[in-house]
Amino acid sequence: MVGEIPLFRKYPKLATIPWVSVIVSPTPVHKIVQTSTTLKRAIWVKRDDLTHTVYGGNKPRKYEFVFADILRKGKETIVTLGSIGTNHGLATAVTARDFDLSTHLFVLEQPISEGVRENLLCHHFFGAKVHLMKNTFHRKLAMKIKLMLDRSSYFVTLGASSPLGTLGFVNAAFELKEQIEKKLIPEPDKLFVTAGSLATCAGLVLGLELAKVKTKVIGIGVTDPVRSSKQNTIKLAKKALEIMRNKDDSIPDVSEKIENRLIIDHSYFGGKYGASTKEALEAIDLAKKDELKLEHTYTGKTLGGLIDYCQKNKVTKDEITLFWNSKSSADMSPYLNQITYRDLPKEFHKFFDNET
Ligand SMILES: Cc1ncc(COP(=O)(O)O)c(C=O)c1O
Repeated sequence: MVGEIPLFRKYPKLATIPWVSVIVSPTPVHKIVQTSTTLKRAIWVKRDDLTHTVYGGNKPRKYEFVFADILRKGKETIVTLGSIGTNHGLATAVTARDFDLSTHLFVLEQPISEGVRENLLCHHFFGAKVHLMKNTFHRKLAMKIKLMLDRSSYFVTLGASSPLGTLGFVNAAFELKEQIEKKLIPEPDKLFVTAGSLATCAGLVLGLELAKVKTKVIGIGVTDPVRSSKQNTIKLAKKALEIMRNKDDSIPDVSEKIENRLIIDHSYFGGKYGASTKEALEAIDLAKKDELKLEHTYTGKTLGGLIDYCQKNKVTKDEITLFWNSKSSADMSPYLNQITYRDLPKEFHKFFDNET
């Protein structure tokens, strides 16, 4: 709807793209004082951990466009994928429940942590049907069969990082621009954000370019560097731009320009998705002082990258650095108190083996 979100306020012709309200926005921005003191410069945070009252983080922004497409097409079942602790899977199940849709989640194993176990329990609590797959080949086949047999099903790509999902983060960049204009935050010089399935980075870099905000984007890679590459990020941003320009040809073709404001850095990856690194653990501890709840797979590595950058690079005192907090900080204990691993299908019990 025209005027409903920052992106449509800027480009009213885009309001014909299906969109549905999912998030609580704008998400707050504020300086993180203890981290700023430690790093001797101004560090700000964008609180996308608070995008949703049940389960926030970066995914619900993408769903405003992805779920609108599902509803427009009259589909009833979502088929999607991830690792067993997938945040995307949980956010999908929570949002699907709100729209009376069902979720089929096709997952592969990953290193087990408390966070992974909690998500696995919550997937079930929020009604997702979780299919544990042996490998990517079996998973691809199983999803294909499900999509073929169930005509009401809709495939949502890994992390909802489709061109439509990317629009959620183009909108986020315009949201930030409005916050800068209202002087809620100074215009950041650099923005650190997690790069996984890439729509978050792609949307932000495209949106910031279109919004004429000077901020450079540093995506901290947390998955296989070949997959979460700069090239793939730019490709995704270009596809999102194409959707926008098809609706409004006055939108400039900035596809060349976005390359200059994006870095994807895999130095903090730790060699394996979900691996715990020293930098991430230190960052998690530091963030606690500012009452931010981070974890080691995504946001810990990203703040770890930010800290390392600040320590290695001399910058002017006035430089503003923004940390985009993309992991939900919602308290899941009200739901976790209502489910135990024994409520899960037997094949998942092994992930809780040390519990009695
Ligand atoms: C908490 C969190 N932050 C950031 C990301 C990365 O976002 P994207 O997949 O859009 O690159 C993910 C998913 O991979 C995530 O779960």
